[in-house]
Amino acid sequence: MAFLVACLLAFAFILNAEAQSAPSNISPGSSLTPNSNSSWLSSSGVYAFGFYKQGDGYAVGIVLAGMPEKTVVWTANRDDPLVSDNATLLLTADGLSLQPTQGKPLVTSITQAVFSASMLDSGNFVLYNSDQEIEWQSFDSPTDTLLPNQTLRAGEELYSAKSKTNSSTGIFRLSMQRDGNLVQYPVATTAATTDDAYYATGTYLRGDNVTLHLDADGHLYLVNNTGFTIFNLTKGGDPADQGKSYLMRLDVDGIFRLYSYSLKQNGNWSIEWESSLDQCNPLGLCGYNSYCVTMDLEAECKCLPGFEPITPGDQTSGCGRNMVADVCNSENENFTCIMQELPNTRWKNYAYMTLSLSDKEECNKACLEDCNCEAALFADGSCRKQRLPLTYGKRKLDTSNSAFIKVGISKTPATDDFLIEGSKKNGRVVVLILGVSFTAFGTILLVSSVIAVWKHKVWGYKRMNQLNGDVEWNEEDVAPRPYAYEQLEKMTDNFKEEVGRGASATVYKGVMLSSQRLVAVKKLDKVAAEGEKEFQTEMKVIGKTHHRSLVRLLGYCLDGPKKLLVYEYMSNGSLADILFKHERKLYWEERMGIARNIARGFLYMHEECDTQIIHCDIKPQNILMDENMCPKISDFGLAKLLQQDQTRTTTGIRGTKGYVAPEWHRKMPITVKADVYSFGIVLLEIVCCRRNVDWSLPQEEAILDELVYHYFESGELSKLVRDEDINRRQFERAIKVGLWCIQDEPSLRPSMKKVLLMLEGTVDIRVPPNPSSFLSTI
Ligand SMILES: *[C@@H]1O[C@H](CO)[C@@H](O)[C@H](O)[C@H]1NC(C)=O
Ligand SMILES: *[C@@H]1O[C@H](CO)[C@@H](O)[C@H](O)[C@H]1NC(C)=O
Ligand SMILES: *[C@@H]1O[C@H](CO)[C@@H](O)[C@H](O)[C@H]1NC(C)=O
Ligand SMILES: *[C@@H]1O[C@H](CO)[C@@H](O)[C@H](O)[C@H]1NC(C)=O
Ligand SMILES: *[C@@H]1O[C@H](CO)[C@@H](O)[C@H](O)[C@H]1NC(C)=O
Repeated sequence: MAFLVACLLAFAFILNAEAQSAPSNISPGSSLTPNSNSSWLSSSGVYAFGFYKQGDGYAVGIVLAGMPEKTVVWTANRDDPLVSDNATLLLTADGLSLQPTQGKPLVTSITQAVFSASMLDSGNFVLYNSDQEIEWQSFDSPTDTLLPNQTLRAGEELYSAKSKTNSSTGIFRLSMQRDGNLVQYPVATTAATTDDAYYATGTYLRGDNVTLHLDADGHLYLVNNTGFTIFNLTKGGDPADQGKSYLMRLDVDGIFRLYSYSLKQNGNWSIEWESSLDQCNPLGLCGYNSYCVTMDLEAECKCLPGFEPITPGDQTSGCGRNMVADVCNSENENFTCIMQELPNTRWKNYAYMTLSLSDKEECNKACLEDCNCEAALFADGSCRKQRLPLTYGKRKLDTSNSAFIKVGISKTPATDDFLIEGSKKNGRVVVLILGVSFTAFGTILLVSSVIAVWKHKVWGYKRMNQLNGDVEWNEEDVAPRPYAYEQLEKMTDNFKEEVGRGASATVYKGVMLSSQRLVAVKKLDKVAAEGEKEFQTEMKVIGKTHHRSLVRLLGYCLDGPKKLLVYEYMSNGSLADILFKHERKLYWEERMGIARNIARGFLYMHEECDTQIIHCDIKPQNILMDENMCPKISDFGLAKLLQQDQTRTTTGIRGTKGYVAPEWHRKMPITVKADVYSFGIVLLEIVCCRRNVDWSLPQEEAILDELVYHYFESGELSKLVRDEDINRRQFERAIKVGLWCIQDEPSLRPSMKKVLLMLEGTVDIRVPPNPSSFLSTI
């Protein structure tokens, strides 16, 4: 480190030495070329005006040269094409001339002949006339950066750059409005409306000709035309600290930041202040039909369901409908439309009609029946019908807003006979994961039916019943379809291959006839105790609980005493196989992705579906892995469904030893926090890649949750992962989340929403207490 600092100082010194011989007063006739004499330095050597390399060409601008990582602070005509090696920049009496000529003149509004030019130590490049009056200065036309003593005057704007390596105009602006308000907008918005603003100082009508100032001590503030400070963005630095320099920049990501730099410190820019800590705050970061999600403090754009990125890799390009869904506009015999829910998202309100409806389903129906409606935004009893595109999408877990998108699905006619022949010929080997988890863990009981007492009207289900019974639904389908017993017989080749057996059910391999999709068919041995009606209701409820982190029920059969369930096929075993037996240990990032996806599934069950579901039996064996290694929660056999006004339940003990929360043993009411406890245990298993209870280890290491707290307390967490390559910050975060989840006292455990935010790194995590420290009080 000492060596590095020495180098930096030497570098600054060399620049200084160069600057001595460089002209501080540049006279007309002087010229620059990209390869030799490429810039004019300020007298201290800190700033350089001239050509700087960008991509495979050169731009003309001002660079902070006196530091290891050169920082561009201004660019002339930033949107003009780059020039190549043979360009020349010439200072003339008319200003600056770039040859071969590129676009607009570099400087305008020269009224008297230019007598000299100077690159000042402030970072301002100035052209003077013969009276030493300023004819033109770069400080008057800022691009994305303000330097100390530079101002942004009323009516002026900063525009972000396109990327870190491309200075041309990007997609955000910071506007010093004539009304006194300093506001941020996406660049494409012309009329300044509050709908488009994502940051404002709120200082409108607080004085005329308000300007934004940056002082040399890092004080960033708004001044009115009488010189009175009306608003402080930052306090300003310690005047004693002479070695620090500052700049303010509207960054590529739409957030404006005050940076400081000190040669004495680490030789890097560090952020002193920023306009937002939420990377998803800038509107328009994600293009049309996509929404912003923060992952590990980084913004990520996701497409609406049924949509795909227009230009993969370019988040701002937005998303368009995939092919199947596009037919939605012309509903016909082969396609139909359904509404797909996207919970907890906020979008710009472009509604062409707003209905006041208290029920989500009513809102859905209204949109589905309206040819003009392409999406419905539902929040607090208002249903806004919109056309596409949807803009300014952002996930907000703290709102109950839901978007419903109309998507098209195919109604491919079933061609059963042909396909069953085809699949036999292919000699397809079907392995069913439900089965694997049964045979490997014989303790799982197949419970004949999920308890379901959900009484709302389910329009989706009704609608599907109106359709031809032979229809086979595609991936985007939301509700399970009814099957005739004979169809399931065909799909399983007359229940030929048994892959799992429980107390009251047997699981068989199968293949969907028209799509050749692999399925697991669970045949209930006895008549379900709940009887006909509850069995049907259950189907509707599971049809409603549609989430990519839950195993999907694709269909069911209700044929007298014969009751069968058809699930999607999971090709990668259970999480238990992956964590404890897999030949290849999953990478850290993969494991964390799995943990977050499981958390999303539980968040959905606990907070986002109409009927709150407590799973009651979370363990790695019940989390199945699809072909993309995405986890899906399965086996709702023990689940409890709570009524809308119910938050707790009492019931006999359920679940699996080692994963059940202590309240099960204490005859306390069971809430969703019981699932949070089990999730915490599973999380620790995911982090450490071992079973929670493993008696093959020395006794003091056998119980993982106790071991984790022991190492956490003694500051020896690294013993848990030994030499594995992990992200240390994420690791400590995951351990803390796990310890909070397994607190003995249910009220101390976080909600699943909080768990997800903590895992994503968007909220701070307090130091967890000893999980059993409240034991004595119960
Ligand atoms: C570069 O500038 C120096 C001094 O300003 C001058 O002596 C030299 O001839 C110039 N070189 C070229 C290639 O223009
Ligand atoms: C400068 O270089 C570019 C690309 O290398 C070439 O197209 C152009 O003709 C050159 N111009 C002159 C004046 O030599
Ligand atoms: C604001 O600035 C403009 C241009 O600099 C000037 O014409 C105008 O008189 C100023 N308004 C006030 C109230 O000072
Ligand atoms: C802004 O900060 C300065 C000190 O840096 C203080 O004197 C002034 O009162 C503050 N003004 C407002 C409006 O907060
Ligand atoms: C529906 O599909 C059938 C069979 O693929 C095809 O012949 C027919 O033209 C399609 N109808 C429409 C309206 O696209």
